[in-house]
Amino acid sequence: MSTPKQTVLLIGGTGAQGVPIVKALIPGDSYNETSLHSAFEGIDIAFVNLNGFAIGEKAEIYWGIRIFELAREHRVQHFIWGSLASSYKASGYQARFRTGHFDGKAKVADWISAQEIGERGMRWSVLTSCMYLETFAEMLAPAHETIDGGEVVVFKAPVGGGTPPFIYLEDLGKYARWMIENPQRSSGLNLRIATANVGWEEVARSFTEVTGKKAIFRDLSLDEYFASGIFGPADRKVGHSVGHDDDTLQTYRENFSGFWNTWREDVLKRTEKDFELMDEILPERVSSVGEWMRLTGYNGEKSNVLKDYADAGGKKPQ
Ligand SMILES: NC(=O)c1ccc[n+]([C@@H]2O[C@H](COP(=O)([O-])OP(=O)(O)OC[C@H]3O[C@@H](n4cnc5c(N)ncnc54)[C@H](OP(=O)(O)O)[C@@H]3O)[C@@H](O)[C@H]2O)c1
Repeated sequence: MSTPKQTVLLIGGTGAQGVPIVKALIPGDSYNETSLHSAFEGIDIAFVNLNGFAIGEKAEIYWGIRIFELAREHRVQHFIWGSLASSYKASGYQARFRTGHFDGKAKVADWISAQEIGERGMRWSVLTSCMYLETFAEMLAPAHETIDGGEVVVFKAPVGGGTPPFIYLEDLGKYARWMIENPQRSSGLNLRIATANVGWEEVARSFTEVTGKKAIFRDLSLDEYFASGIFGPADRKVGHSVGHDDDTLQTYRENFSGFWNTWREDVLKRTEKDFELMDEILPERVSSVGEWMRLTGYNGEKSNVLKDYADAGGKKPQ
């Protein structure tokens, strides 16, 4: 059955999360107050994934709310917020889980969730995602080490036995498409998506099953993780596109300590109920890390996933 033609504005459309949504829909434009006014002209549907690493938590909260307001001003019919859950809030505000790039998006999601839908308001949905499985080919790519004379693929992370949710990006695009095509069901819904809750022992085991290569998981302390240089100097501030004379910006060490504490202690997980809804929406969804490895031909080699990361030459941008 053909659907009437509609126009979609997609912010963050050149990024890892945006590209599969663009593929599933159509391309759009970027933002700031002036360009947003012209970008929203004639737009029916907006999917908005702001870049907290570029602008920091404070600006993400402001722009998330402001972009929603501008969308409504321009009579956008359906606003979809690309979100992340807050472990800081979910833990009852325990400091060791504070993660700016979660909390900015989550605060905007809470604010959006208080907005009226109907005659006076705009239809909204929240798409709460999680780490991309594709990250195993980039920031979480394994090392190749010689152990007892044999080559071993070593997956390393400061995660212990934690099993955080991961999402296959192509499925993320399909969930966004479902929201647009099923407004009666997606309106007012915060859809918490994931392929599965994934532990690193399972990652190593699945890798061996799929590739036949020996693989292990090695747990790291946070000090070992930051000493690996993954973020360059970990004491610089998050927010590569804004001035750093701002005390509200976390450092990479602070932000990613909260991030890994969250996963190590399993503060944010998808529930049976979440997976039941996902099975109903996308029965063909990829549902395990092993299935994802098989489907995509994952071999542990590095490839480009995050635009920011590639733009900065393989490090989190300055
Ligand atoms: N990595 C993950 O596993 C993961 C998972 C879930 C959610 N997220 C969230 O997704 C967001 C990043 O999006 P992504 O995953 O698609 O990353 P990405 O591949 O690095 O893409 C970054 C996007 O942000 C845009 N951007 C860069 N600098 C900007 C600026 N100063 N102002 C506005 N936009 C800017 C880029 O557009 P240009 O073409 O202009 O450069 C691009 O569209 C972050 O907030 C992150 O927390 C990440």
